[in-house]
Amino acid sequence: MKSKTILLLIIFVILFTVTIVAAVKNEGAKDIEIYGGKKGKIPFPHHMHQNNLEDCNICHSFFPQKPNSIKDLKTKGQLEKKQVMKKLCIKCHKAEKRAGNKAGPTKCSKCHIK
Ligand code: HEC
Ligand code: HEC
Ligand code: HEC
Repeated sequence: MKSKTILLLIIFVILFTVTIVAAVKNEGAKDIEIYGGKKGKIPFPHHMHQNNLEDCNICHSFFPQKPNSIKDLKTKGQLEKKQVMKKLCIKCHKAEKRAGNKAGPTKCSKCHIK
């Protein structure tokens, strides 16, 4: 093979790898507004939690990595209202506070905004 062809091949392989890695690693939006019904939406710092927690499944075992998945599961009756809030968000924030660590909010008005 000519060296030019080899060079082109190498470039192709690199571009291909970069594309695959980027496609697999969809970390979702940096900040998300979660639907909170009449109580008001919840601004949620998604990437801040990812950096703190590392394991995606701490949350995504409750709901898939899709926009509005919590609301969709509640509409289908596969998640109860306030289930994620109580069994995931507030549960962890309380546990961290008890352990004396930095923790997120546990008061209604600190999460829900109108
Ligand atoms: C502390 C909880 C939590 C952790 C940890 C978490 N997520 Fe999420 N993620 C959420 C919430 C909440 C939503 C929004 C769901 C909704 O809109 O109903 C979401 C939505 C998403 C979405 C779809 C929405 C979008 O912006 O495209 C993707 C993709 C995603 N997460 C990827 C990840 C990956 C990858 C990780 C691990 C590196 C991760 N998440 C870790 C809570 C979390
Ligand atoms: C740590 C943040 C957080 C705190 C604190 C919090 N909430 Fe929530 N709340 C959420 C999230 C996230 C949802 C959406 C997921 C769900 O329904 O579990 C939600 C959902 C709800 C819903 C259901 C909305 C619907 O129609 O689907 C109600 C009602 C509600 N919260 C009331 C309250 C009240 C009252 C308090 C205070 C006692 C409170 N929340 C404190 C995060 C929080
Ligand atoms: C497994 C633990 C864990 C879970 C689950 C979790 N959080 Fe947090 N959250 C934290 C910690 C720790 C902090 C404080 C991080 C810091 O201040 O550095 C925090 C901080 C926050 C903050 C404050 C951000 C700020 O700028 O001060 C909000 C809002 C929040 N969380 C909302 C939520 C919501 C909504 C959910 C559920 C969808 C959730 N969290 C689930 C651990 C968790």
